[in-house]
Amino acid sequence: TKDIFVTNLMAKMTLEEKLGQLNLPTSGDITTGQANSSNVAKNIEQGKVGGLFNIKSVQKIKEVQKIAVEKTRLKIPLLFGMDVIHGYETTFPIPIALSCTWDMNLIKRSAQIAAQEASADGINWTFSPMVDISRDPRWGRVSEGSGEDPYLGSQIAKAMVTGYQGDDLSKNSTILSCVKHFALYGAPEAGREYNTVDMSRIRMYNDYFPPYKAAIDAGVGSVMASFNEVDGIPATANKWLMTDVLRKQWGFKGFVVTDYTAIMEMEYHGIGNLQTVSALALNAGVEMDMVSEGFLNTIKKSLEEGKVTIDKIDNAVRLILNAKYDLGLFQDPYKYCDSNRAKTEIFTNSNRSEARKIATESLVLLKNQNQLLPLKKSGTIAVIGPLADAKENMAGTWSVATKQENSISLIAGIKAVVGTSANVLYAKGSNLDYDPILEEKGTMFGKTLHRDKRTAAELIAEALKIANQSDVIITALGESAEFSGECSSRTNLEIPQAQKDLLQELLKTGKPVVLVLFNGRPLVLKQENETVPAILEVWFAGSEAGFAIADVLFGDENPSGKLTTTFPRSLGQVPIYYASKNTGRPLGNIEGKFEKFKSNYIDERNEPLFPFGFGLSYTTFEYSNMKLSSSKMNTNDKLKVSVDVTNTGNYDGKEVVQLYIRDLVGTVTRPLKELKGFQKIALKKGEKQTVTFQISQEDLKFYNSDLKFVAETGEFEVFIGGNSDTQLKEKFELVN
Ligand code: IFM
Repeated sequence: TKDIFVTNLMAKMTLEEKLGQLNLPTSGDITTGQANSSNVAKNIEQGKVGGLFNIKSVQKIKEVQKIAVEKTRLKIPLLFGMDVIHGYETTFPIPIALSCTWDMNLIKRSAQIAAQEASADGINWTFSPMVDISRDPRWGRVSEGSGEDPYLGSQIAKAMVTGYQGDDLSKNSTILSCVKHFALYGAPEAGREYNTVDMSRIRMYNDYFPPYKAAIDAGVGSVMASFNEVDGIPATANKWLMTDVLRKQWGFKGFVVTDYTAIMEMEYHGIGNLQTVSALALNAGVEMDMVSEGFLNTIKKSLEEGKVTIDKIDNAVRLILNAKYDLGLFQDPYKYCDSNRAKTEIFTNSNRSEARKIATESLVLLKNQNQLLPLKKSGTIAVIGPLADAKENMAGTWSVATKQENSISLIAGIKAVVGTSANVLYAKGSNLDYDPILEEKGTMFGKTLHRDKRTAAELIAEALKIANQSDVIITALGESAEFSGECSSRTNLEIPQAQKDLLQELLKTGKPVVLVLFNGRPLVLKQENETVPAILEVWFAGSEAGFAIADVLFGDENPSGKLTTTFPRSLGQVPIYYASKNTGRPLGNIEGKFEKFKSNYIDERNEPLFPFGFGLSYTTFEYSNMKLSSSKMNTNDKLKVSVDVTNTGNYDGKEVVQLYIRDLVGTVTRPLKELKGFQKIALKKGEKQTVTFQISQEDLKFYNSDLKFVAETGEFEVFIGGNSDTQLKEKFELVN
């Protein structure tokens, strides 16, 4: 019936109306966007718009939908898109933090709640998940992805897509998902936003493509093309990518939308004028044009000149109408515009309490010397730092629907959690950095840190005064929310200097210091790791951040997050990731001593400060008794791998048990380790559990130099442990 409905509708459409469906303008500013009073409104009325984004609230969306369904000739409803990236008004941790939960149920749940809230407010399409693998923390958008690993990234892509879309898109609490940015957006040269990407196909297929493919396999309805070039052709005009890979190899049936003005930007890439690049994009397999209006204004001419075909246009229109049909918009264009839902389903207490729980699971304990944490809820506690009282920063980057005033700051969270049993003092201690301009650069959607007019010395003096009166100092330092995110590339990955100086002054008091670290990317923490006894990585944990951090600091929750991205010792090591290759001259010693003519640095060790998969708990876990069901595996067999994990510490806790595989000999070089399984388990104090994994041939496959996905016979090593640096291993052989 969908086919018949869409075919009949298309039979009535003029060329102009068809091109209108391919056009996706923005309403302008999300908070003020009033499409009914702008130029966009005129275009909608003339049937020149297929969807609109950056418009918020049932009332505004209803008004605009009304224009489409009452004033246009064919009454085709609009899609309403938004960057619902990590929650809606109830905001979850930024995606890199969410990934550190390693809990697919929680991640899926966060997407379900986001879809529920967004759909209750008129939105039917989210530009999420972003699944770009990135191994370069200079790039600001590492905050929006799931880290460096294709296996974990693929599981998360699936969890997010199924969370948003559910099993039935026509339900009013599910929304269309858009996987982005296809492809390789996370690998710009030197980590500079929008920069050139150049990568071998074997790396694309093995390391960067899997999460996009996982989203397609999970049934994602739309794909966003990336800004960067792939093999010298911008993704938006790349036929190999959009047609050969996406449609022919992977079987994608939904529609592709460009990124913001990406068609126009191809003029700057230098591949033609607006008419040429618009035709290139359509011919490549892109269906919807975000903001450039290249399709709207030039495709007719290209059709007349024989540069595009009507079949290509029809195909694009069909895919967009299919999505509207699947969402149920033709049956009820106002189905997402229920003001009662908007009043009762957004930022509810129950959504907030789930967000708080999820946030606690995303925090990663990086260091805890002498069990300084958890803290006692007693005595005098100094909370110091520019991020301590910064609720507008808690939700983190790309949280456009969040009401910043509703977020819980660290100081508010601590006060709520300790109640009257402790005396909590606060001082700002420093600005984000000495240079105010830096602070301004990292500003989007009004999210900046309030700048204190006092001098650095005055701020430090005030901080030292309360520090000296306290039993323990909690410092809230790091990046502001918009220091990561889109167009927030950095060449320096340290905590900004003003805050480093504050921290060193606080350490001189001799009081125990806990570093609560806010950031959207791996930072270089060598100095802090050497000098601070306890470090808790809190990222930007969402609207409930302050509560969640306090829950962990004071032991109501035991941290269980594990890093999904490697933390370098030094910027010069970047890009650094665990699944690296051996090279022909591997370093022969594990102490990291320099060896001439080996692959190493004169001035730094090879290994990172904190490896992928790393994260401490208030308790300790021991791994023992690793066993393989056999030392040989036939190609159709499954191998069982088991290990005993014991909680040997003093708290109940959770552990992410990780399984890595190394293919020792291949027709192409293979990584030293690749994640191929993980289980997050809960163990009571003293409890032991046998954890079992199954390895199948699928887990041993990779793309060879013919880009064939194969498993090659021979020897493999399998590793199990609590992070990617684990040395607990067994060997087996894959035989024919
Ligand atoms: O969805 C985003 C994308 O990730 C970056 N450019 C703008 C888009 C729409 O807001």
